[in-house]
Amino acid sequence: MNLIKTMQEIVGIDRATDAPVQLYCYSSDASQIRGTPDCVVRPQDTEQVSRIMRFANEHDIPVTARGAGTGLAGGAVALEGGIVLDLSGMDRIVDIDINNLQVAVEPGIIHSKLNEALEAEGFFFPPDPGSSDMCTIGGLIANNGSGMRSVKYGTTKSYVLDLEVVMADGSVIHTGSKTLKSSAGYELTRLMVGSEGTLGVITKAVLKILPLPKARTVVLASFETPELAGEAVVKTLSAGVIPSACEILDRTTVEVLNAYNPNISIPNAGATILFELDGTQSSVVEESETVESVCNPLASGIRIAADRDEMEEIWSARMLVGAAISRIDPNRTRVYVGEDIGVPIKEIPRMLKLVQSISDEFDLPIMTYGHIGDGNLHTGMCIDMLDNEQWERLNLAADKIHKTAIMLGGTVSAEHGIGSARSEYMRLERGGALDVMILIKRALDPKGILNPGKLGV
Ligand code: LAC
Ligand code: ZN
Repeated sequence: MNLIKTMQEIVGIDRATDAPVQLYCYSSDASQIRGTPDCVVRPQDTEQVSRIMRFANEHDIPVTARGAGTGLAGGAVALEGGIVLDLSGMDRIVDIDINNLQVAVEPGIIHSKLNEALEAEGFFFPPDPGSSDMCTIGGLIANNGSGMRSVKYGTTKSYVLDLEVVMADGSVIHTGSKTLKSSAGYELTRLMVGSEGTLGVITKAVLKILPLPKARTVVLASFETPELAGEAVVKTLSAGVIPSACEILDRTTVEVLNAYNPNISIPNAGATILFELDGTQSSVVEESETVESVCNPLASGIRIAADRDEMEEIWSARMLVGAAISRIDPNRTRVYVGEDIGVPIKEIPRMLKLVQSISDEFDLPIMTYGHIGDGNLHTGMCIDMLDNEQWERLNLAADKIHKTAIMLGGTVSAEHGIGSARSEYMRLERGGALDVMILIKRALDPKGILNPGKLGV
């Protein structure tokens, strides 16, 4: 069996490689997890993926599907070598079908490119991850990603109508159909969403789309402490206002944003909440008035973004927070560990307080930002990457953050995925449900070749 030769026969000589420099480029994602594949293959269609899987299954070769490599949990890293299947070249929009409120795409399409194409038709695909300009739709589906709009619109799983999936043995199935709903059997689409390449390889997706809202506004509310900000969010949601985005920025995050773009000037408070409201002109005005009156007794300041330009500036700066954090201290680097917890919304104020006490306990500054409206908080820690003692404290703090979120009825990953970075928490978080996941994994991938070492399965 000659792996590279067989792969080159299937995809063409230029689309499969085992050159060490290429393998090195594919040995990581945006996390700290590393694993070098034996070869990288860039298929162009479903038929090629199917032939690759058939061969890999016959010869017990691990296969790790990969999009843009923006993952934060090692999901696309080949821990046991084998084939990395780079799907970023399968990036076509197959069909924009406005009459059926859906779009069919290949998995490698970049998220923002899809929304640019839909915008021209007056529609959008609501999930809105921070990595929109880089990440692929395939990766978003594999991790059930979401981002800023999920508080109102839900996560990726709510928008996937059908997936074409190449199974471990090379067979090709469709998990759904073009209908907007179906009661015909097991919900295989949802099983595949969030399965991180452990059950099959997604080669096509049909996604539900929505008409773009006619109006938007952003209310900026500042608070003396993150807990007060958390309380204001819980009260706003219970008052019946569901914002289209509801983001928390703590003091350090605001400093980072203002330094990145001085035109924005968000007030330097203990924490700021950005409430985005969308809908019609009148509903947006009505809802922003409710947000103001609910937040007033708790806030130290409230204002509405001046115009569309300011709103755009705020959101484009917000998208860059993760990368911009490292600029606050040239000797320290942002490390994505323990960065994606989610808690039930009522527990947000408590979680924010506990993050502060974990920061004190380990003497490690932790900045908090993220999608507070659905309880998803990103904790940002920066360390000197060459200092082992700082690494140790960071890992201990991250472990405590994860266990605290689970203790509050939450999750260790609200949107970034489990991969191998967080797989040790699957038992604690999911209990006996993990055994069912393991049974499903064994049934669909008996040889365990699909993305081994991930998800705790
Ligand atoms: C964000 C990414 C980190 O929200 O999820 O910026
Ligand atoms: Zn996020």
